[in-house]
Amino acid sequence: MTVTIVGSQLGDEGKGGVVDLYGDAADVIARYQGGDNAGHTVVEDGTKYKLSLVPSGAVRGKVGVLGNGCVVNPKTLFDEIDTLREQGLDPDVRVARRAHTILPYHRVLDNIEEDVKSDTDIKVGTTGRGIGPTYEDKAGRRGIRIGDLLDPDVLRKRLEYVVPQKRALIEDVYNVSLADVDDVIEGVDVQNAFDVSALYEQYRRFGERLDEENMTVAAGEFLAETIEDGGEVMFEGAQGTSIDIDHGNYPYVTSSNPTAGGAAVGTGLGPTTVGQGEVIGIVKAYLSRVGSGPLPTELGDVDEQIEGTGEGEEYELATYIREEGGEFGTVTGRPRRVGWLDMPMLRHAARANGFTGLAVNHIDVLAGLDEVKVGHTYTVDGEEIDTIPATTERWERCEPNLKTFEGWEDVDWGDVAREGYEAVPENAKTYLEYLSEELDTPVYAIGVGPGRDETVVRENPFEN
Ligand code: GDP
Ligand code: IMO
Ligand code: MG
Repeated sequence: MTVTIVGSQLGDEGKGGVVDLYGDAADVIARYQGGDNAGHTVVEDGTKYKLSLVPSGAVRGKVGVLGNGCVVNPKTLFDEIDTLREQGLDPDVRVARRAHTILPYHRVLDNIEEDVKSDTDIKVGTTGRGIGPTYEDKAGRRGIRIGDLLDPDVLRKRLEYVVPQKRALIEDVYNVSLADVDDVIEGVDVQNAFDVSALYEQYRRFGERLDEENMTVAAGEFLAETIEDGGEVMFEGAQGTSIDIDHGNYPYVTSSNPTAGGAAVGTGLGPTTVGQGEVIGIVKAYLSRVGSGPLPTELGDVDEQIEGTGEGEEYELATYIREEGGEFGTVTGRPRRVGWLDMPMLRHAARANGFTGLAVNHIDVLAGLDEVKVGHTYTVDGEEIDTIPATTERWERCEPNLKTFEGWEDVDWGDVAREGYEAVPENAKTYLEYLSEELDTPVYAIGVGPGRDETVVRENPFEN
């Protein structure tokens, strides 16, 4: 059977930890979308692994697949595999020949476009990894796929077609001189990013390594064979439902489909295969957001936090949650925006994904607060609604109707995880039961800390 792990909010809900938790029962873990914009954390016996392309099952020695729906930067992939090897792991990663590759010019374009938007309110705050421009080329039928790296003639032909277009885009549309972009993007040689020969040499070598290490597969066939042979497959979503290109708050989204339907399209298995399995929504017990976009239940103002100018109850609450939850960007260290749990967002996610179970993380982070609130519904234009509006402009006008829960005490969460659900503080149980009832979905697991052992497990989807 299959188990699909999906972010139900804005990313960073703790998907990596849940993949690690349930991944023990899986044979293969497959990513189906996104690329190295993801950062998934697994903490095993106090050792922290940060994974961005390698599926999180690598920590348990499981085979990882990057499906056709992913966009793969081969440089990041190899660097990450090498780093994990230094950490004592031996990642076995297969990459779909149908997956698209991120090239250095995609990263340059991602950064230039964000720069161009920087004085407007449409700046997304992307990760700068070239994700959007790579998916654009995929849809525009000018992308370069992993399979193309294995055939030098095809690779050269595709580069010869596309690179002059990219150069013209930068110079003639954005009116940016390449010399001015130098140094701006870490890890990218901007001049070589638009040079056919340099790109050809670099990517041909990536193709050779992929081939030598037997890393490429027809993902759908590989996964179907695993299932036919009685193997268990887990799909590891990246990002989250509210930054899904179709179901998120466009344009403040990523360029792929983190929602569960993506697991079929992005791997080459049928929706029936995904649908016969379980779909677990990963929920952070509050909200955090790294990029721009509306956030009706936001606490405080992140710019005030950066400038140290904020004051008042909301600002202090935000500061407390941010610090307890470690809500700072992994790359920049910038504070993340935080807010109360948003039920309209979760009702939307439950429908769009068809959750069969939930894993609710970070219950420990909220411990010690007198009161915990959730946005139960919204009021917009005089009307009360219980799910998110389709347009971002209307979403921006939504005022949350907050529901207040009594807070729960801080306890020894390691003990709670060992003892099980009965040991969870009563007020936290009330909160979890509310969530479960509103979404009509059982809570399978409760995260009470970052470690593998810091989870209260109520059900294992592979045993259902
Ligand atoms: P992902 O992108 O969804 O895999 O999540 P990230 O790894 O980016 O961010 C989640 C962060 O919270 C990581 O540092 C995790 O180790 C940590 N984490 C996960 N679950 C819990 C939890 O239940 N409690 C606490 N305190 N931290 C958690
Ligand atoms: P994981 O898998 C949180 C956000 C970016 C930006 C928007 C678009 O770790 O949960 P992109 O570079 O994808 O074009 O950026 O999406 N974003 C994430 N936020 N977690 C992630 O991944 C994210 N991946 C992208 O901050 O707002
Ligand atoms: Mg993350």
